Amino acid sequence: MSDRLIIFDTTLRDGEQSPGASMTKDEKLRIAKQLERLKVDVIEAGFAASSNGDFEAVRAIALAIKDSTVCSLARANERDIARAAEALKGGASGRIHLFLATSALHMEKKLRMTPDQVFEQAKASVAFARNLSADVEFSPEDGYRSDPDFLCRVLEAVIAAGATTINVPDTVGYAVPELYGNFILNLRQRIPNADKAIWSVHCHNDLGMAVANSLAGVKLGGARQVECTINGLGERAGNCALEEVVMAVKTRKDYFGLDVNIDTTQIMASSRLVAQTTGFVVQPNKAVVGANAFAHASGIHQDGVLKARDTYEIMRAQDVGWAANKIVLGKLSGRNAFKQRLSELGIDLSTEAEVNAAFAKFKELADRKSDIFDEDILALVMDDSVTSEQEFYRLVSLSQHSETGERPESTVTFAAGAHEHTVSSQGNGPVDASLKAIESELQTGVELLLYSVNAITSGSTESQGEVTVRLQLGGRVVNGIGADPDIVVASAKAYLSALNKLHCKNERVAAQG
Ligand code: KIV
Ligand code: ZN
Repeated sequence: MSDRLIIFDTTLRDGEQSPGASMTKDEKLRIAKQLERLKVDVIEAGFAASSNGDFEAVRAIALAIKDSTVCSLARANERDIARAAEALKGGASGRIHLFLATSALHMEKKLRMTPDQVFEQAKASVAFARNLSADVEFSPEDGYRSDPDFLCRVLEAVIAAGATTINVPDTVGYAVPELYGNFILNLRQRIPNADKAIWSVHCHNDLGMAVANSLAGVKLGGARQVECTINGLGERAGNCALEEVVMAVKTRKDYFGLDVNIDTTQIMASSRLVAQTTGFVVQPNKAVVGANAFAHASGIHQDGVLKARDTYEIMRAQDVGWAANKIVLGKLSGRNAFKQRLSELGIDLSTEAEVNAAFAKFKELADRKSDIFDEDILALVMDDSVTSEQEFYRLVSLSQHSETGERPESTVTFAAGAHEHTVSSQGNGPVDASLKAIESELQTGVELLLYSVNAITSGSTESQGEVTVRLQLGGRVVNGIGADPDIVVASAKAYLSALNKLHCKNERVAAQG
């Protein structure tokens, strides 16, 4: 059996299914390029048949990516499969990923199909896909809760029909490590042609065991592909976290005995890019990529680490890209230095106008903040006004007054298309007053589901505040992010950014329904 573990990233497909995480084509492309730098083996770019937006995103990614296989999800029917094949056409290396539910519950209640019908459809759709692509993956959805006898029958048939990868999803995050590992092993042992396919694990994190289950599927079950997302992004409690699986396999090579192709020094850049694009911030104590992952607060630990790092550290911060947290530029840095830093960070702004807009923002920020970190630069290029992807609403200026014992008041000037509006409101605090001012003018009726503030770089009150807001309107959920040294300004930017996403609904890629 191979001793190489294939890393299949599904941030842009399963990750995007998180409420509010849907991305534009350009955002997806930017993340795909970062995943290529991270050297993931397979990038699941989307679900081409789910919307025109996602079709275009998969197509753009397939054409741009050279070093990773690009994959599109498809339901097990000819229309979806043909659409996936069309989106992948012309790319360096493509894969079609079919799924069809096999658990009794899903077949009866969701698909309203008999097991025999599911069996026939699985077989026929894999055969159809194999005529269009040499690389076909099949996933029995809710596989872990399926009857093992039926699953063996279906999987043997789809391998015979040409499936090259068999993925066994724990769709609802119900598995526990030992049972999941043995479940995969049992399938591999019972299916006569099991060795003709690569076996893959796909675990959700509802009970907090997605990474442990995936690793058990590898160690006990013999799987050689792990499906995962950056930061564990994904609907409900998320998917298996790529950075955790990769660092576990690398750090405990003595136990797993497997190689992964990932350039781990790109992990932090990937984590930040995904967090800043989607608005799903990383908790400070998150393994590998959390702000505290390598911080030692207790005196005994600090003393130990200073004497010998490995007394308390099992990984080196710089091996996962933490060293990037350093001062990179300042007020006197020129356009060329700025452009070079953008390219070192893997950011390729598509036009000179975008570089100019980003540089102007950088100068503005450098006037107010002496040290500019990589994180500041990333936040700056995520600003709608730099990428100008869907900037209908734009903050022009904000002034606010708050005083102990007084009700704060804010005056906000913002552009909506070609028109500028200046509005004032009072509120419980300056943030509340600013958002109320905007809302009093636009009367959008949105519901605020989440408001959070984080310091972009830790350890100093000089840091920019990064605000995330999650808004809901008519069943759609979007996240907006805004960054500024002034958190009230950051809040207004985040609010307008989320409104932009609601405004440009057609440009956003629809998640799987
Ligand atoms: O969780 C799941 O079952 C999936 C499949 C579509 C692979 O995401
Ligand atoms: Zn999934």
